[in-house]
Amino acid sequence: MAEKQSGNLQNYVKQLATEALEKEQPSAWFEILYAQAEGDVTQIPWAKLTPHPYLQTWLNNHQPFMKGQKALIIGCGLGDDAEALAKLGFDVTAFDISPTAISWCQRRFPDSSVNYVVADLFALPLEWHLAFDFVFECRNIQALPLNVRSAVISAVTSLVKPGGKLLLITRIRDTEAEPSGPPWSLSDSELQHLESFGLQQVEKIVFSDHPQEMDIKQVRIEYQRQNSQR
Ligand SMILES: C[S@@+](CC[C@H](N)C(=O)[O-])C[C@H]1O[C@@H](n2cnc3c(N)ncnc32)[C@H](O)[C@@H]1O
Repeated sequence: MAEKQSGNLQNYVKQLATEALEKEQPSAWFEILYAQAEGDVTQIPWAKLTPHPYLQTWLNNHQPFMKGQKALIIGCGLGDDAEALAKLGFDVTAFDISPTAISWCQRRFPDSSVNYVVADLFALPLEWHLAFDFVFECRNIQALPLNVRSAVISAVTSLVKPGGKLLLITRIRDTEAEPSGPPWSLSDSELQHLESFGLQQVEKIVFSDHPQEMDIKQVRIEYQRQNSQR
């Protein structure tokens, strides 16, 4: 099994992911990483203890929201995105496959109105089907390999109710060739796949964490499911 070397978190993550893929359990390594972190946020590469800035700007530009609208946060990590939505009056459910991540959220936000739950994107509760006004998917599709991409996209899109919205934030790649992940950035055809599940693109912006180098391109895409579609 992979051993943690200090100062080399990126390699360690890659090793954990590779071992999980060899066992055909692509989500298995996340719990190991969260549990081994023992509450040290520096050991979780994606955790910034703040809402994603491109979620926050989208929320700032789309207020006011109707109180009580149902929001779902996929792969919620340490909970900051979920808390940002709860502050605006959404009725928020946030889930992650990692029990340690979910109890970490509950410890960080003991008075939160967010319903934090352990759940698996590959085995979603039936009552979540087409159930949410707003679904936030940030950097989870890219964290799972291409052989499950179609299943992941199908699961993500199945959560959005007619008339509801999906906000997606992900890395993208320029070719259809398989990248060496994690992360496994999304190709154009994979993005188009979301629309084949009844979602229409409303707005797309391309950005980079390092604006000077546009080498690692990311997108924020807002989708909406038409009212008539089921
Ligand atoms: C790269 S992290 C991104 C976390 C957060 N969305 C963010 O952007 O900071 C991927 C998250 O997805 C969760 N995850 C992985 N596979 C999952 C699955 N099958 N079902 C639910 N969550 C999953 C992991 O535990 C992890 O918290």
